[in-house]
Amino acid sequence: MDTLQQKLSKAAEIINKASYMTAFTGAGISAESGIPPFRGDDGIWNQYNPQVLELNFFMRQPEESWKAIRELFYGVFSEAKPNPAHHVLAKWTKGDLLKSLITQNIDMLHQQAGNEQAICFHGSSQYLICMNCDNRLKFKPSILETIPPLCPRCNGLLKPDFIFFGEGIPPKAYRDSFEAAQNSDVFLIIGTSGEVSPANQIPEIARHKGAQVIEINRDISHYTHRTTTLFLQGEAGTILPEIDLLLTN
Ligand code: APR
Repeated sequence: MDTLQQKLSKAAEIINKASYMTAFTGAGISAESGIPPFRGDDGIWNQYNPQVLELNFFMRQPEESWKAIRELFYGVFSEAKPNPAHHVLAKWTKGDLLKSLITQNIDMLHQQAGNEQAICFHGSSQYLICMNCDNRLKFKPSILETIPPLCPRCNGLLKPDFIFFGEGIPPKAYRDSFEAAQNSDVFLIIGTSGEVSPANQIPEIARHKGAQVIEINRDISHYTHRTTTLFLQGEAGTILPEIDLLLTN
């Protein structure tokens, strides 16, 4: 049984030889920035009913839904800062070692760390969309002084520009993510349980095309025993900097 140190060296060896490496991240990469994950003992869905992110519920009860969304996301996000895990991925992108970054997260921490081109598979909290006239406006805290927030152009209901349960994936994000997975010879899965479809198909595409899959997770996930080729158990904010130190620059 390899020790973590041996696994870290193995990961660095694989990454050094990568020709097309993609990172695929979930809520776990932002946990050390103070944003709780969705599942697990400290998961959001232990305190809130996921229905607040269901489109039908949102349309029927916009005020209740928006109160939870403001607490769950906008309140927490405004305090959160990128952690060392986000910074390592941004450094690897700048060094052209990381070719694509796909995130399920809507917290914009990858973009704040420097990964402006992150593929936002579930959209992001950066904009709001009017459900009546499609007006798209950049989020600013004053918008949430009125709940539910209304469109300044037509007074229609505003919705966050991230996808709700029951909504389709943004088509460009979908295409770009599957293309990146198909091109990858090394695929990093960082901080995601693999519970949610179709996002959880992306690592399978990469594995099916023969990529080496390195997983970093605090716990065992749906990927660990079926998709992952090298499992590094622990906190992303610790493991990624340790791998970075082992890379030959
Ligand atoms: N470092 C690495 N992994 C961590 C850390 C950490 N510091 N903290 C938690 N984790 C792991 C958890 O063990 C879990 O496996 O991150 C994973 C987070 O899983 P989820 O909470 O299910 O988040 P995610 O996989 O991103 O959820 C996917 O579900 O609710 C929807 O749209 C939402 O994008 C989200 C999607």
